[in-house]
Amino acid sequence: MMIKEAESVREPQAREEVIRWYRAGEVGALFAAGDCHGLDVDGLRIGLFKVDETVYALDDICTHGNALLSDGEMDGHGIECPLHAGLFDVRNGRAMCTPLTRDARCHAVKVEAGVVYIATPEQS
Ligand code: FES
Repeated sequence: MMIKEAESVREPQAREEVIRWYRAGEVGALFAAGDCHGLDVDGLRIGLFKVDETVYALDDICTHGNALLSDGEMDGHGIECPLHAGLFDVRNGRAMCTPLTRDARCHAVKVEAGVVYIATPEQS
C-alpha cells in the first residue's frame, strides 16, 4: 500500500512539561541559620522560605532588580527584598507592595522524611 506523502509526515509533538523533583537537602540543614535559604538548581536560583513547618519556594531573584530574596527578612508569610523592601507573599509569589510590579514565580515543594524537594520543570 502506498502512503501519500502528506500522511507519512508526523505532526511535531507538543513539548510536554515534565516535573522533576530536585533534592534540596534536609530541612534542619537548610534552615540551620534562619528561615530563608537560597540555592542553585541547574542554573536557576531558587529561594526556600520556611514558615512554621511549611516550606515554600520562589524564584530567588527579585522581579524588581538584582537582589536575592533569600537575603531578605521574613515577616509572617512575607519575604522582604533586601534592596528596596518590596514584599512578596511566599505562599503564592504575589507582589504585595511597591516598588514591585510583577509577582515572583512559585515552585512546588514537598517534604518527605525530613528532606525538601523542589519541583522544577524540564522540557522533554
Ligand atoms: S530589587 Fe527587590 S524591591 Fe527592588
